[in-house]
Amino acid sequence: MTNAHHDYDVLIIGAGGAGLRAAIEAKQKGLRVALITKSLLGKAHTVMAEGGMAAALGNVYAEDNWMVHFRDTMRGGKYLNNYRMAELHAKEAPQRVLELEQWGALFDRTKDGKILQRDFGGHKYARLAHVGDRTGLELIRTLQQKVVSMGTDVFMECKVLKLVHDTEGRIAGCVAYDRPTGEFLTFGAKAIILATGGSGKSWKFTSNSWEGTGDGHAMALWAGAELIDMECIQFHPTGMVWPLSVRGLLVTEGVRGDGGVLRNSLGERFMFNYVAPMFRAETAESEEEADKWYDDHTAGRRPPELLPRDEVARAINAEVKAGRGSPHGGVYLDIGSRRSAEFIRRRLPSMYHQFMELAGVDITKESMEIGPTNHYIMGGVKVDAETAATSVPGLFAAGEVAGGMHGANRLGGNSLSDLIVFGRRAGMGAVEYIEAGAVAHTMNMAEVEEAIAGALAPFEKEDGENPYDIQRDLQEMMQANVGIIRTESELVDAIAQLDVFTERVKNIKVKGGRAYNPGWNLATDLPAMLTVSKCVALGANLRKESRGGHTREDFPKADDHFGTFNLAHSSDGGNWDSPITTAESPLLPIPAELKALLEEAK
Ligand code: FUM
Repeated sequence: MTNAHHDYDVLIIGAGGAGLRAAIEAKQKGLRVALITKSLLGKAHTVMAEGGMAAALGNVYAEDNWMVHFRDTMRGGKYLNNYRMAELHAKEAPQRVLELEQWGALFDRTKDGKILQRDFGGHKYARLAHVGDRTGLELIRTLQQKVVSMGTDVFMECKVLKLVHDTEGRIAGCVAYDRPTGEFLTFGAKAIILATGGSGKSWKFTSNSWEGTGDGHAMALWAGAELIDMECIQFHPTGMVWPLSVRGLLVTEGVRGDGGVLRNSLGERFMFNYVAPMFRAETAESEEEADKWYDDHTAGRRPPELLPRDEVARAINAEVKAGRGSPHGGVYLDIGSRRSAEFIRRRLPSMYHQFMELAGVDITKESMEIGPTNHYIMGGVKVDAETAATSVPGLFAAGEVAGGMHGANRLGGNSLSDLIVFGRRAGMGAVEYIEAGAVAHTMNMAEVEEAIAGALAPFEKEDGENPYDIQRDLQEMMQANVGIIRTESELVDAIAQLDVFTERVKNIKVKGGRAYNPGWNLATDLPAMLTVSKCVALGANLRKESRGGHTREDFPKADDHFGTFNLAHSSDGGNWDSPITTAESPLLPIPAELKALLEEAK
């Protein structure tokens, strides 16, 4: 039934930062390694982490160190994090950044020639190593060059449909198709690393590009792994809201990190009202007075625009709801009145061009109209912190597809460093697993045939629905019912509607052939989009509190009880339409010495 078969030791699905870094690690050990990407090499969502990668290098603030970074990450994640992942990340990020520099990454520099670090929300110190506002791109460029120079095989425009086991339940490979030809392929592998990124495409407004359909999350669940914290979605505060054709496109937090401020339609710096309810910015005589008040009352030098993303996104949402929004339903981001045109063009060249080309706005003179956009999912595959191993033998996960590291909310800049820290660890974990010897040798062909039959079904219908209609309706529904602010009646409705979507997906009709057929590609994405949406809605309904990226109108406060466990989803049956069970999975106990660090911060 398939057109070609390939065999590897380590197969990596996804060619963003985590996948590339994992490939380098496995390749360095002399293994046969291949990367599969459903897009083109160099185009991963990693490039949308623009403002920088967080690492306590201490180049700008000598007092910074891994302990402060660990504390900021746990605090930002509202303590739902896998503490060990946050610890390893904080300890190892500096080495990984320096390694990138050795491999050719051209970071911006301090006056004395060190890697320059910029401010981002929730980080106590300026900590983000960056390359203007193109840091993700530089990370990809650097890793990609190394991967290619090492002779790693890369399968581009190749969509993986399902992971395949051996008869003992170990991962043995996967079944995929080549988008240009529509031919089916099988890959045998001793270990598979999922590095597939996120799932924003199930929402209407997202910074994610078309690839972000949650394939890795869904395939892991179907293969027997658990997904945790899926209700924790990050709405980045600043996406473009106008023109409509680019609504959701990211406006880097680097704008605020470099001095940009948020204003409502009355021209007020409204964020002051959200950091300190007893203070109203409009009562200050001047902006300077408001800034000074904030510094005095927060014992810090951080503007309120640099609160963690969940807090800023909720504040913007509240301003719009209160009728103080911009004409297209956002608020204003102003850097032009605070920094010179030369500074803006040098530090934020992509933002300058993005607004000039797409909206006809000169950000050195005019404010940007922005609003929250679905950017990142904190939830993901449950993994072991040291090895990135899932509970399924031979299956590993790193980067956005893995859960735990960021808890209920991710700090900006912690994503790029997560990719390189845990991409490397996943590579090491896969190598160790293979060296231990108990690997699969044969793929269960019944699973391959079932996956191919499922993929072909939309061609065989006499009549049926257009996949684009289903995608549009799903995005509208998830945006409306499972967005920034959630409430029980809408979540219950979403869960019921997702069952209806399941039946609609079974009824998809695709026209034309298999070669480069975008309608068919979408039909094969929709099962994963539905699986992820179900886990998010189920988790959001069960988590009857507000924490990080999960905000309940009906339960506006955090509840200590819910701070003791992750919500873990598993599949009863392993197919995309199988029922999903959700259970409480206790958090790892935090060792006393780390707990003491966290207490210091309170
Ligand atoms: O705003 C940004 O540049 C995004 C960074 C991130 O998501 O880490």
